[in-house]
Amino acid sequence: MLPTHRPRRNRKSAVIRDMVQETRLTAHDFIYPVFITEGHNQTEEIKSMPGIFRFTADRVIDEIGQCVELGVKAFAPFPNINEVLKDPMARESTNLEGLYLKTVADIKRQFPEVVLMTDVAMDPYSSDGHDGVVDPDSGEILNDPSLEVLGQMALAQARAGADIIGPSDMMDGRVAWIRRVLDENGFSHVSIMSYTAKYASAFYGPFRDALSSAPKKGDKKSYQMNPANRLEALRELALDEAEGADMVMIKPALSYLDIIREVKNHTHLPVTAYNVSGEYAMIKAAAQNGWVDGERTMMEVLMSIKRAGADAILTYFAKEAAAVLRRG
Ligand code: PBG
Repeated sequence: MLPTHRPRRNRKSAVIRDMVQETRLTAHDFIYPVFITEGHNQTEEIKSMPGIFRFTADRVIDEIGQCVELGVKAFAPFPNINEVLKDPMARESTNLEGLYLKTVADIKRQFPEVVLMTDVAMDPYSSDGHDGVVDPDSGEILNDPSLEVLGQMALAQARAGADIIGPSDMMDGRVAWIRRVLDENGFSHVSIMSYTAKYASAFYGPFRDALSSAPKKGDKKSYQMNPANRLEALRELALDEAEGADMVMIKPALSYLDIIREVKNHTHLPVTAYNVSGEYAMIKAAAQNGWVDGERTMMEVLMSIKRAGADAILTYFAKEAAAVLRRG
């Protein structure tokens, strides 16, 4: 019997394929994470992330200018804090004259139209390398004392000009806590993008190299989620919605495409996904070896994340992918 149904008819030419294409990437989909470091006029490439740099504050302005030209207008800055400024309470995180908040304010001054999502978690500033406060005796990560620190951090970021606060710490109740602190201080217009389902993943390795922020002791499994769990992501989603999150995020993206879809099917909030450092590194490494076509795998991966249900994607590929999309 010859086939009567022939799906290949919808694939027979480039124009028809374009006409029936279900998902399209644009530069507006991307949020570009950028690493900031102390000093002047320097860029240091991160060894495990070819093509990604730590920028001094002056240089990050050039980088953002180039991205804006390419249509990328949302950025997630992360600070590489000098070891001597780290302490158990992450006090440097609220310093408006410190590297991070000064740079955030500077970027907003130079590019008032860009959207900046700042990261709320203690790890870049903590001498323990954890996202919350560590009990010095038991080593336990203390939830409620951490909320106090995270709330003050979010407030300082709002004062510096953040458009979106991105709590990546996974402490219970932090979205409600941060929302209240922002509202009580006149920042009801500042959004919260919650890292809703953030898994305890091995794919964060290169990021921790970039910021020298790996935990000094233990791991993050008592606050980040178990990669084996799906229903727990929906529980976190329900809590973040109830606590007032404006957008929700799944992280990492690639090993969690099922979670992205699941969350998308259960919420009316915009869903974002974080295509993390290890996912970036894998493609770059394979491409450098000539084992895969770097550009095509990059675009396929980004497309898959959007198809899974992400409305926006945090990705280190943002600039490169925007250049490919511009070229057409
Ligand atoms: C920490 C934080 C991490 C990332 C973003 N914020 C690492 C971690 O939880 O240890 C990882 C991002 C990436 O790997 O690209 N609050």
